[in-house]
Amino acid sequence: MSQHHHFPPFAVAVAVAAVLVLLSPPSAADPNDELCLSSLQQSLSLRNWTKSFFTDPCDGFISKLQGVTCNNGRVYKLSLPGLSLSGSIPPELSNCTNLQSLDLSSNALSGAIPTELSKLLNLAVLNLSANALSGAIPRELASCAYLNVIDLHGNQLSGPIPDELGLLVRLSTFDVSYNRLSGPIPVLLANRSIAAGGGAVAAGTTARFNASSFAGNKDLYGYPLPPMRGHGLSVLAIVGIGLGSGLLSLVLSFSAVCIWLRSTDRTAATPGEEGKISHLMPAY
Ligand SMILES: *[C@@H]1O[C@H](CO)[C@@H](O)[C@H](O)[C@H]1NC(C)=O
Ligand SMILES: *[C@@H]1O[C@H](CO)[C@@H](O)[C@H](O)[C@H]1NC(C)=O
Ligand SMILES: *[C@@H]1O[C@H](CO)[C@@H](O)[C@H](O)[C@H]1NC(C)=O
Ligand SMILES: *[C@@H]1O[C@H](CO)[C@@H](O)[C@H](O)[C@H]1NC(C)=O
Ligand SMILES: *[C@@H]1O[C@H](CO)[C@@H](O)[C@H](O)[C@H]1NC(C)=O
Repeated sequence: MSQHHHFPPFAVAVAVAAVLVLLSPPSAADPNDELCLSSLQQSLSLRNWTKSFFTDPCDGFISKLQGVTCNNGRVYKLSLPGLSLSGSIPPELSNCTNLQSLDLSSNALSGAIPTELSKLLNLAVLNLSANALSGAIPRELASCAYLNVIDLHGNQLSGPIPDELGLLVRLSTFDVSYNRLSGPIPVLLANRSIAAGGGAVAAGTTARFNASSFAGNKDLYGYPLPPMRGHGLSVLAIVGIGLGSGLLSLVLSFSAVCIWLRSTDRTAATPGEEGKISHLMPAY
């Protein structure tokens, strides 16, 4: 007995569309991702990464490249922590334009954080902690409006913390501890009440990020750390200046005494007085 099912045309259309979606190859390789991945492999000497996968790194959500996660055929997450990677972060990493999470923590990366990372407009997580990165924290990172984690602790970053980072409203984790940063802590990173802006939420004056986010930077100051110490002069400098000026005045008064003695010596007429003076003068 044969029975013919009559499907409504829209159901057929939906089924055909579904089959087409399932059969279609993953979205064509993206030339941006390819450049990004090949630059990263060269810069960090990722021997484990096979070049043949760069042109088509994604197979659904999975990638054959270690540490790469995909979404809609684009590189979405790069996670390569604790692999003893050395080298520097290539600016071409910014060509992975769909990147949402970048974790290169606990490696031996050196050099600067490329300002080009600011082109990663979808970036939500940036973890470059525990490396040997140097130079400044790029203020341009403030253009990554979705950033909610910035972890840069344990590097050799120097210069000030850019004020602009305080404008990242989604930031929930911020850690720049144990670097060589200097200058005042941006108020918008320190005080939640101001960060809420326009009196939207009166959160009082609780810290937005506490002192542990900023610890271990000798020349960083201001709430939640203590205020600038000794008007920028360390105790050692003050002691040095004190000793130096003390020594200087000692030398000056000593030479004044010598000059005075020499002039009285010349004017001294009687040998008796001269003898008296030379008797009083200690031998130098
Ligand atoms: C990589 O990004 C740069 C800067 O945004 C752009 O000029 C270049 O065309 C991109 N390269 C490729 C291969 O897409
Ligand atoms: C190479 O990648 C594979 C999986 O992609 C991983 O299991 C392995 O630990 C990696 N080897 C090294 C030395 O990182
Ligand atoms: C960043 O990575 C380090 C080490 O891999 C990890 O301990 C830390 O929790 C990460 N930071 C955040 C905010 O997840
Ligand atoms: C930030 O909060 C602290 C602690 O409540 C307060 O001492 C400081 O004056 C506040 N800074 C500003 C600029 O409001
Ligand atoms: C600082 O804040 C972190 C979470 O943001 C918390 O784990 C830590 O205990 C806090 N430290 C202090 C001293 O309050």
